Amino acid sequence: MKMKILWSLMSLITLCRMEDFPDCNHDNWHSLETTESARLECGPEFKNLCYCSRICYEGKHQYVVNCTDTKFTSTLPLENLPNKTQVLIFTGNILQKLPWNIFGTLDRIPSLRVIDMSNNKIREISGKAYHHVKNVQRLSLDFNELSLDTQSNHPRVFSNFISLLELHLTDAFEDGQPRDIAETLHEIFFNSHLDQLIKLHLEQNEISDFKDSNVFCNLPNLLDLHLGDNDLNALNFNLSCLHKLRFLDLQHNNFTKILEQDLKTLDTFAKHNQSVTIDLSNNPFDCSCELNPFIKWMKKTKIFVRNKNLLKCNDNGHNNKKDLQEKKNCVSRVSMLSPPSGSTIAITMLSLILVGLICTLVYLQREDLNKKIIPVIDSVNKRVRYTSILTVDARENDV
Ligand SMILES: *[C@@H]1O[C@H](CO)[C@@H](O)[C@H](O)[C@H]1NC(C)=O
Ligand SMILES: *[C@@H]1O[C@H](CO)[C@@H](O)[C@H](O)[C@H]1NC(C)=O
Ligand SMILES: *[C@@H]1O[C@H](CO)[C@@H](O)[C@H](O)[C@H]1NC(C)=O
Ligand SMILES: *[C@@H]1O[C@H](CO)[C@@H](O)[C@H](O)[C@H]1NC(C)=O
Ligand SMILES: *[C@@H]1O[C@H](CO)[C@@H](O)[C@H](O)[C@H]1NC(C)=O
Repeated sequence: MKMKILWSLMSLITLCRMEDFPDCNHDNWHSLETTESARLECGPEFKNLCYCSRICYEGKHQYVVNCTDTKFTSTLPLENLPNKTQVLIFTGNILQKLPWNIFGTLDRIPSLRVIDMSNNKIREISGKAYHHVKNVQRLSLDFNELSLDTQSNHPRVFSNFISLLELHLTDAFEDGQPRDIAETLHEIFFNSHLDQLIKLHLEQNEISDFKDSNVFCNLPNLLDLHLGDNDLNALNFNLSCLHKLRFLDLQHNNFTKILEQDLKTLDTFAKHNQSVTIDLSNNPFDCSCELNPFIKWMKKTKIFVRNKNLLKCNDNGHNNKKDLQEKKNCVSRVSMLSPPSGSTIAITMLSLILVGLICTLVYLQREDLNKKIIPVIDSVNKRVRYTSILTVDARENDV
């Protein structure tokens, strides 16, 4: 819930920033009359609940069909989408299952560029649901309940989106037990050929692990991978195949440390002359020696680490967050654990030889030593006896 509010807030901010676009002014203040005509323009199937008109959307005049919080229980209205639709907003409905050909069987809407079908309680998408979407560049299915069962969601669901640049799947999957989301995603990406895709949003999906490490390898043009607000604790997916990666968002996950091999993988991007940004803020890093390689890496890497000031570690056992700091005393511990060096071996050998020589000497001289040592031991024994008697006396006097 909190996440959703945060999300809407962020979308709002993005919307506000749209004002920066110079090429269409803000004449979206419809009079009562124009709102009414925008409603009627959609046609009877939309039941007077939507607005269909040319408005300023994301800085451009576009023909937008806007059905927000319309609570439709089927996609039937979409079969009658106006031919010139460029942006479709169809959110706040109760759809459960997307049947075949939600936009009808004719190729009528060649101008369609954006489909926002977020927050529709969609569980199943049949393989033939999206047809005639060859020019769509952005698809949002945020905040749905997509089943991970491949029986319900056909792996070829996105195969007709041949021009897709952005896919938004924030909190798009069903909640519940730990699931193998990676395998489902891999199946989908493998079968859908999203060759143009540059942005993928997978935030808030409780992803803790990618069992199939090549999950993103069928997205050859991916620039921005958003995995924030998940439960990941390692980079257990193959990054080497994302040749064009530009931004990797891992904020608000479950990283306690970063493995050295993962740091090496990240550095390979820098070698390819790519400017790559990573965001690891708000992870529960552990303030221990194991964080040292990461801290050292940050000082010298060419990767841009975003929100460095939000990198904190949890102090052992306590919950107080501290700034990451290199632990100096870890060095000695590491060297103690490291294999002995040449000089250590030499010193050990010499000591052993010395001990051996002393033992031999003692053995050879044992007769002489016996004679000399026994009287010494005797005298020591006597002295000990005297001292103990003396201390007992002293105590008795004290009483
Ligand atoms: C769509 O309509 C809703 C209200 O019905 C409105 O809040 C929202 O701003 C509209 N979206 C656009 C892009 O015009
Ligand atoms: C929309 O396109 C279809 C197919 O091209 C055509 O049959 C139909 O008449 C068009 N509708 C309008 C209102 O132009
Ligand atoms: C985060 O990691 C800790 C161990 O480091 C684990 O106990 C916990 O269950 C993880 N949390 C989630 C939500 O996966
Ligand atoms: C990662 O992807 C690269 C390039 O596609 C491939 O050569 C490599 O074998 C993959 N690594 C793993 C662990 O699958
Ligand atoms: C790396 O990028 C810099 C500037 O962006 C360019 O001058 C240089 O030639 C590039 N090097 C390689 C190996 O591509």
